[in-house]
Amino acid sequence: MCGIVGYIGEKQATNILIDGLSKLEYRGYDSAGVAIINNNKLNVRKFKGRLSVLEEDLRQNEIQGNIGIGHTRWATHGEPSDVNSHPHTNCTNDIAVIHNGIIENYMKIKKWLEEVSDVTFKSETDTEVIAHLIDYFYEGDLVDAVYKAVEKMEGAYAIGVVCKKEPDKIVAVRKDSPLIVGIGKGENFLASDIPALLKYTREVYLIENDEFVVLTKEDIKIFNEFRQEVKRDVFKVTWDVESAEKDGYEHFMIKEINEQPKGTKETLQRRLDDNGDIYLDGIKITKEDLENINKVYIVACGTAYHAGLVGRSIIEKYARISVEVDIASEFRYRNPIIDEHTLFIAVSQSGETLDTLAALREAKKHGARILSLVNVVGSSVARESHDVFYTWAGPEIAVASTKAFTTQLMAFNMIALHMGLTKGTLTKERYTNLIGRLKELPNKIQTLLDQYELIQEVADKQFNNEKVFFMGRGIDVEIAKEGSLKLKEISYINSFAIAAGELKHGTIALIEDETFVIALATQDRLYEKMLSNIKEVKARGAHVLAIAKENNEEIEKIADKVIYIPETEDELTAILSVIPLQLLSYYIAVARGCDVDKPRNLAKSVTVE
Ligand code: AGP
Ligand code: GLU
Repeated sequence: MCGIVGYIGEKQATNILIDGLSKLEYRGYDSAGVAIINNNKLNVRKFKGRLSVLEEDLRQNEIQGNIGIGHTRWATHGEPSDVNSHPHTNCTNDIAVIHNGIIENYMKIKKWLEEVSDVTFKSETDTEVIAHLIDYFYEGDLVDAVYKAVEKMEGAYAIGVVCKKEPDKIVAVRKDSPLIVGIGKGENFLASDIPALLKYTREVYLIENDEFVVLTKEDIKIFNEFRQEVKRDVFKVTWDVESAEKDGYEHFMIKEINEQPKGTKETLQRRLDDNGDIYLDGIKITKEDLENINKVYIVACGTAYHAGLVGRSIIEKYARISVEVDIASEFRYRNPIIDEHTLFIAVSQSGETLDTLAALREAKKHGARILSLVNVVGSSVARESHDVFYTWAGPEIAVASTKAFTTQLMAFNMIALHMGLTKGTLTKERYTNLIGRLKELPNKIQTLLDQYELIQEVADKQFNNEKVFFMGRGIDVEIAKEGSLKLKEISYINSFAIAAGELKHGTIALIEDETFVIALATQDRLYEKMLSNIKEVKARGAHVLAIAKENNEEIEKIADKVIYIPETEDELTAILSVIPLQLLSYYIAVARGCDVDKPRNLAKSVTVE
């Protein structure tokens, strides 16, 4: 879950490491540290807190050196503290290790090391055992020692190692946590993710599971678990530095909210052929395939799971295939019924979410066909799937997912329409008409973004309200859930979402004077029912913000405030109705003085179970 970087070359390593870590801070931000080798000395500097704490210390007391590793942490084992921060070292301070992931058998290794050597552990982390293990096996060859250490380790890891006795190299290993290598001239780099390196190079190697990398100034060698060298194609990054920068916006989140017209448009346009029909990047879903499938599972976590819930409605509506949606961490442990007639759709922005990855592997093991909707190119979920539909959101940095969500919804629409036409449940005429409606959505998102002041006004009035409910019916319930998650994660308001019809079965007991209720009423066939639900909560004192389709003015007589979304098909409203909710949580979090892009206890990419 953390971010790791490494540098070897002619330049001062600290500057490059700090700069790289600043681009990875979204991955974890409870502590940060670096280890630099210089003049036969290994200097380690690490602190609890944001990267700025480390940066300030290094400003006052520089460390020189041209080889080093850096880490920004999201603690799994041991509280955030200076001593638990990475890098971790062996007892004699020769070897330093940074680690992203969890060493599951660290207690066993710790016990064993205590038996066979006179090691003293300094921290409570799982990571520290790696430094001591490498030390235990070290006989003058760092690569050999890392190989032997890894043989003992179980769990997930991306590791970077330096050793002062071999100051000409960085050794790295990957299993289940992301790792890339940046190719430079007379210098090379290591990182968890591309944004960390974009300033220095656009040419990278994507490291695979169980691979070892040895970086020197002039060379990069990749080896498999059997110590055989492997050749890898260079991956050329096409997006520019600006797409990973704030570009004048105050936060990444608001920048990314505003990038949704572009992201949804790209996701659609890049897969429309000359006739205006959808083609799915080589993903072949034939009529026979569809006849062969008797079950579709959509599996994901958090916001991606909410996209899956909307995906279910759309696929069931257009393709008439029964779909189940599951939370990845539940799916893998509930013994689901999977066979070669199952289509498993994984949804993930990062493509590195361990729960999603584990569920995918479980489904694959039982013969399912795996299709994934992923934003990060070359990520683990993408690499382990049979078919990949890449969303074109561009890099998403803010912890709260926004543009990844709307591009996932666009992707689901396209997959569902394609399935419907192929299966014959949609006529060509209806299909063409719906593609036309999809094309309108990016501009309609823009119309909503342009009304941001209306939402800011509501946020300014309600930001101190600690009781917030979201409700809706049909597809609106899924968006209510997404709105509530967004609000919780960045403003720490204890809110939840409910199907409006369920209110009277219990939850309405919680409604009292000034409870803030956000009521989604965008579904034509359920509109009247929603009006009744709004009346019910109003009668108990709630303050209601309604989200409705334009030309439904009678709702203004009941709700305190109404935000209108532009007219579209009921099935397509989700991509629009979520926009005011994203803006609302953003402005509420800003008004509460919260750290919008880096909310407490969270990290962007959840690579632990
Ligand atoms: C979204 O705002 C959350 N931070 C989180 O729920 C996220 O969607 C979830 O962890 C899944 O991530 P993924 O899409 O990268 O797999
Ligand atoms: N498990 C390690 C720790 O708790 C690494 C966590 C991370 O990936 O940030 O320090």
